[in-house]
Amino acid sequence: MNTPAVRRPNRALWRGAHLATLRPDRPWGWIPDGAIVTEGERIAWVGPAAALPAGLAVDAEHDWGGGVVTPGLIDCHTHLVYGGNRAREFELRLQGASYEEIARAGGGIRSTVQATRDASDAALLDATLGRARVLLREGVTTVEIKSGYGLSQADEARCLRVARAVGERLPMTVRTTALGAHALPPEFAGRADDYIEALCDWLPGWQAEGLVDAVDGFCEHIAFSPAQIDRLFSRARALGLPVKLHAEQLSNSGGTALACRHQGLSCDHLEHLDDAGVQALAAAGTVAVLLPGAYYFLRDTHLPPVAALRAAGVPIALATDHNPGTSPTLSPLLMMNMACTLFRLTPEEALAGFTRHAARALGLHERLGQLTPGRQADWAHWAVDHPHELAYRFGHSPVCRVVRAGQPVQE
Ligand code: NIG
Ligand code: FE
Repeated sequence: MNTPAVRRPNRALWRGAHLATLRPDRPWGWIPDGAIVTEGERIAWVGPAAALPAGLAVDAEHDWGGGVVTPGLIDCHTHLVYGGNRAREFELRLQGASYEEIARAGGGIRSTVQATRDASDAALLDATLGRARVLLREGVTTVEIKSGYGLSQADEARCLRVARAVGERLPMTVRTTALGAHALPPEFAGRADDYIEALCDWLPGWQAEGLVDAVDGFCEHIAFSPAQIDRLFSRARALGLPVKLHAEQLSNSGGTALACRHQGLSCDHLEHLDDAGVQALAAAGTVAVLLPGAYYFLRDTHLPPVAALRAAGVPIALATDHNPGTSPTLSPLLMMNMACTLFRLTPEEALAGFTRHAARALGLHERLGQLTPGRQADWAHWAVDHPHELAYRFGHSPVCRVVRAGQPVQE
């Protein structure tokens, strides 16, 4: 009997740049004058070009011609699917109205819910693809996309389908998160507990359709209580879905400890996190996702406890939190700069926050977030001499070319 010849996947050699691999065993995972060998979608070898295996047979050879290569960026917290915008609300806030006041008066998230429900499927997909393309152009190869502006069974599903479609239309890895517990929809006014029950009932159907990779909530006095989030998370965990939480953004509500009890992938925002919350994150191995865009745009002054997180060894990720209300940015590099200037992260921590730690915040750390053998061949190539330049510039980004799963991205 003939055994079919096992054909190895296409092997390609890439050389001619410095590598910031983000391997944790040395600063930046730095390899000057490095090379990468890919086999199909994966990285097969990484090291100094001078140490390339002798006589290596390759199907293609690429010369970067200088610059620095980093892992593809991972934006682990976005609300990319929505209709309309909130520029008018921005004006009102500049005149003195607070985010909470606007939300309580029926504006805020709920106004975006109306605009999202009013948008056609095609318009929602178009707008979302446009935003995702901007991220991709700045080196993002993996993006988490939340629902949360539909708030009905049908509209949340519609938003999650749009999120999934992004991963089918663009060369990006997409993780979808069901954020039905973002705000109380008008149909359930005064009946938050009933809404949580309804969400628990809707989850299995969305999961069966392959729409949900994780479940999120907004635990805050203007949104849902820890007891309500607890019920939702218990249901999610019973279905085998991981959870994450918008926690301690506007006040210390105890959401972090709750999410950690459910082995949360991440807790996000955390401006009002206290010491017990820091310890809970450390003990659970839950990632702290900091969102400097929302902090800046809301003109917040209450800083997240970065020094305590660092001292406790909590992995710190960063994300754009792109959304129309509190963070209408699509620039990871600007977030890296703000994380340094506003939160005092180091430029190296900022890059780790958009790569290695962001991968962990999505449960994808074995597969993504570092340039090491076995991981997916996702990277961004920057016209810089050193990776600390990435967090240094703001308002414009050094030219970047992107490779995703071993393939150059044509955009
Ligand atoms: O991550 N904090 C809650 N959710 C979003 C804001 C949503 C909105 O205002 O539309 C956030 O900041
Ligand atoms: Fe958010």
